[in-house]
Order: sequence, then structure tokens, then C-alpha cells
Amino acid sequence: MSAYSQLCASMQAAPSRWLITGVAGFIGSNLLEHLLKMGQTVVGLDNFLTGYQKNLDMVRDLVGPEAWSRFTFIEGDIRDIDTCHKACEGVQHVLHEAALGSVPRSIDDPLLSNSCNITGFLQMMVAARDAGVKSFVYAASSSTYGDSPELPKVEDKIGRPLSPYAVTKYVDELYADVFSRCYGFSSVGLRYFNVFGQRQDPYGAYAAVVPQWFASLIKGETVYVNGDGETSRDFCYIENVVEANLLASFAVGEATNTIYNVAFGQRTTLNELFGLIREEVARHKPEAASAQVEHRDFRAGDVRHSLADISRAATRLGYAPRFDVRQGLRLAGDWYAANL
Ligand SMILES: NC(=O)c1ccc[n+]([C@@H]2O[C@H](COP(=O)([O-])OP(=O)(O)OC[C@H]3O[C@@H](n4cnc5c(N)ncnc54)[C@H](O)[C@@H]3O)[C@@H](O)[C@H]2O)c1
Repeated sequence: MSAYSQLCASMQAAPSRWLITGVAGFIGSNLLEHLLKMGQTVVGLDNFLTGYQKNLDMVRDLVGPEAWSRFTFIEGDIRDIDTCHKACEGVQHVLHEAALGSVPRSIDDPLLSNSCNITGFLQMMVAARDAGVKSFVYAASSSTYGDSPELPKVEDKIGRPLSPYAVTKYVDELYADVFSRCYGFSSVGLRYFNVFGQRQDPYGAYAAVVPQWFASLIKGETVYVNGDGETSRDFCYIENVVEANLLASFAVGEATNTIYNVAFGQRTTLNELFGLIREEVARHKPEAASAQVEHRDFRAGDVRHSLADISRAATRLGYAPRFDVRQGLRLAGDWYAANL
């Protein structure tokens, strides 16, 4: 029995009260769906800056009325300390996802990224500390590796940040570390590497590459590749990320106050990714099989290659990602074909 299966059994036997910030977003809504299906009680906080009511409606339809009755939604902002305190009341486990994602967005508006990702983060830590929660797991980011050329990325070796977004995510890690030393407040940071899957937003100037390409191919629109397409990433399917969050929430001893890479541990170039996505879309829409890409300039702030060493999460948390890129793209492709 895997560490995750054991954890699921014990969570179901003794349910807890959770807080998910950013619950109307991509990762937050997937965490919500899993926790409600596992019999947990959940408070969700979101200000709909980049999240959607439709994500919550979809989870409601997927989990059914009994599970949905265990969910309380607070529409509010993590930049408001009273809201953070209210959301943490009676909560045992916090999954902090709320932040403004996207490197280019942070280059366009560093003040907004800073206020959500640093001030909001700090306020959530203060509120969670004051509420005496058992665990605080937060979304860190692979962007913290910055200009370090080393591959694979190992948690303790980072470079200089390449964007305001990367600065915010690194500052969060520094605050988390200081909170453990100054207040004895434990947390776990998960450095996500290019997560993808159902409910990830395909629209807008700041959409991530996987949902954007699914949408373009499904609609017969041009697919743009920034640069020569040999840029590579460690794409990670959402189920793996959900599992890492739950494992991290029950980490004890040396496994806490730590940062973990959360990825699959495999590198895929953008050219390869395009081939895989095109194949998936062609299963639903045969004319997509002949689609080609259009190359444009490299994007400022992007790192060239990214690949995670996931051995720390494997050893200390029992993290064993079950879905590789191809399996994840199959599931995501079915979802986009049915929902776009
Ligand atoms: N998706 C990825 O590949 C990836 C990679 C690395 C890190 N992350 C981090 O994971 C977390 C979740 O990302 P996601 O992909 O689900 O993004 P998302 O934009 O879908 O979700 C973020 C949610 O946070 C909410 N939010 C933003 N600012 C808020 C505020 N001030 N108050 C309350 N709610 C606020 C948004 O409305 C949204 O629903 C973020 O912290 C992001 O930086 C994501």
C-alpha cells in the first residue's frame, strides 16, 4: 500500500477541517474536489481575481449535495487581515494556493503580484499561526531556481530570480523559514513545476501553455511557440500535485519546515509537448492532426530548461507521482474537448 493510499484511509477515518485559499482557481478547485470526496470539511477563500465561480459550480456537480454541504465559501481577499483570521477559525489544515501566477503578469504589474503574493502570504501565515493550525502547506514555485543552470533542480541550490513573480515566491519561502525560527510555526513549501489539468484557465494573455494550446487546437486557431521550441519543462499533472499537498499536510518532524520540488521528474520540450497535445486533440477532432506551430520571440523572464529532482519529496513525504505527462495530457485533453 502506498503512503498516499494509507493517508487517504486515515483521513477518511478521522476527517478534518481544511482551509483552501485560491479555491476558485485551478489547483485550489482540484484540491477542493478531492477533499470533499474524501469526507473532509472545507472552508474556501477566493476573491475571483483569476479564479471562477464556474470552477466551484463544477466541483459542486461532481461531488454531489452531501459532500457540497461540507463546504463553506468566503468571497474575500488575503490582503485583508480580518478575512484571513475569519477563514482560519477552527481550521486544522491550511492549503495556501491564492496568489497571482504568471511570470509575464508580474513583469507587467509587479505591485499587484507583490501585494497578493507577499503581503497576502504573510497575512495568511499570521492568521494561521494565531489560529494554531496543525499544518500550513503553501504553493511555492520552480521559478525560484531563477538563472541557475543546474539540472535537475535540487531544492538547496537556487539562482537569482528572473522575474518579480520569482522574487515573491522566494520571499514567501524566506518568511516561512523565519516563522519557524521566530514563532515555532511549521510549514511546508511545495515548489510546483508547470502543473496542468482540468479547470486550468486556457484564456487571456497570461494563460499557461498546456491549456492555451489545447484551446487553440480545439478551435482551429494558430498555436504560437515562444522561441525555437527546444525550451523544456517538467510538466506535472494535477493529481500528482493534489497528492503532494495531502502528504505534506501530515508531514511530521524533519519533513516539516522544508521545501519540496513537486513535479513528475521528466523533461519535455515545447516541440514535444505540441506533438503530444496535437495527438490528444486529434482523437476528438481529426483535422487537428495536421496543425503546425508558428514560432515567435522568446519571452522575457522565462528560464530555458527546467527539470526537478523529486527525491526529497519521495524520501521524506512518500511522494510517488502516478501520472506521467502523456497520461495527464490524455485526461486533460478529454476534459478540454468536453468543456471548451
Ligand atoms: N499552475 C502552475 O503551474 C503553478 C506553478 C507554480 C506555482 N503555482 C502556484 O500555485 C498556486 C495556484 O495556482 P493556479 O495555477 O491554481 O492559479 P489560479 O490563478 O487558477 O488560482 C489562484 C487563485 O487565487 C485567487 N487569488 C489571487 N489573489 C488573491 C487574493 N489576493 N485574495 C484571494 N484570492 C486570490 C485567484 O482568484 C485564483 O482563484 C499559486 O500560488 C501559483 O503561484 C502554480
